[in-house]
Amino acid sequence: MATRTIGIILNGATGRICSTQHLANALVPIRDEGGLAVGADRIVPRLKLVGRDAARTEAVAKKFNAEWTTDLAQALADPDYAIFFDAAATSQRLASLVQAIAAGKHIYSEKPVAPSVVHGLALLGSAQSHGVKHGAVEDKLYLPGLQKLYRLAQSDFFGRVVGFRIEFGWWIFDGTEVPGQRPSWNYKRKEGGGLILDMYPHWRYVIENTLGTIRRVATLLSTATPERVDERGQRYTVDVEDTASTLVEMQSGAVGTILSSWATRVRRDDLLTFQIDGTKGSAIAGLHKCWTTTNAQIPRTAHFSITTDANIDYRSHWTEIQDAGPFKNPYRVGWEDYLRHVVADAPLKADLAAGLRDVQFAEACYASMKDGKWVSLEPHS
Ligand SMILES: NC(=O)c1ccc[n+]([C@@H]2O[C@H](COP(=O)([O-])OP(=O)(O)OC[C@H]3O[C@@H](n4cnc5c(N)ncnc54)[C@H](O)[C@@H]3O)[C@@H](O)[C@H]2O)c1
Repeated sequence: MATRTIGIILNGATGRICSTQHLANALVPIRDEGGLAVGADRIVPRLKLVGRDAARTEAVAKKFNAEWTTDLAQALADPDYAIFFDAAATSQRLASLVQAIAAGKHIYSEKPVAPSVVHGLALLGSAQSHGVKHGAVEDKLYLPGLQKLYRLAQSDFFGRVVGFRIEFGWWIFDGTEVPGQRPSWNYKRKEGGGLILDMYPHWRYVIENTLGTIRRVATLLSTATPERVDERGQRYTVDVEDTASTLVEMQSGAVGTILSSWATRVRRDDLLTFQIDGTKGSAIAGLHKCWTTTNAQIPRTAHFSITTDANIDYRSHWTEIQDAGPFKNPYRVGWEDYLRHVVADAPLKADLAAGLRDVQFAEACYASMKDGKWVSLEPHS
């Protein structure tokens, strides 16, 4: 087996998602296990980290045995690096990707891949005309719970799907008594914040890959916590939504709801749950587990009892799917697919066009809120 090195520039390397997932759980293990097998070759990532703060970038580079710089332009000028990956703050994404494409790099991007569909289409056109390959991070589909749900959908467990429900979120402290658990830029429009832009790209690919095409959406947004305290103890005004409720109509006619909130206290099976109801059966997935039920398992509920509690444990009619895996880290799955695409032209579902459809979904929800009406999700051309 021949070993081939592939240079990868990682922008935003000191950030949470780049360091804890893309480096620690994906690229570093691939490299340290001797590379990714592709045909007769092993593809070994060579990593160059780009960050704004020299001391922090150097520390992360040391930890992961990588090279580093604070000069993005210099990194992009180096022909030893064929791939540019962006996981820096959302507001900087477009400029960095434009720069990388112009430098002839293949690009891979965290979500959202662009601030709007119009910008994303221009980016896609530019990637195509420069002949560079492109990919988008669509990790949540590879969560063990959602994989189990996906497999049920593939196996026709549900019959005709009649509806679905996604519930997501937990309580984010406002920083006054307990430090907030999300960076302050998440709460500022100018810096690419907002729950929709942050989370809805995920819901798009999770829903469409599992259940088919979305026809239209109607969304209501709100801000539960209008003032917060940032990382330096400064108060600031939140100018984005931290709560979103969306109705989704599928091409198939099925109807779904998505409730996402950074201002809710969890009392459900997991931080994220995705329930699908079909004529033959239902299933609900959390991040790791998935439970199913059928008409043979559920009670024949006839009416409420207003005088006494019927004392039924509705969860007892559900069966947990026993599947210990193995389930690969979702970010590693993404990198392996993307690297196979770059070096061996393997088909890649999560390309920039898919990432753009994720943005289109988020944008449609914002438009629905602004105009107070349903917005259709015609595929963009
Ligand atoms: N796939 C996922 O599930 C997932 C999860 C979290 C975040 N993300 C995405 O990853 C990106 C980073 O999120 P994070 O949570 O790691 O954020 P973070 O704030 O922890 O990290 C952001 C990184 O960008 C850098 N940065 C911040 N502001 C910048 C600026 N103005 N100019 C240049 N660099 C800047 C920071 O130094 C840091 O390295 C976001 O686009 C976010 O949407 C994706």
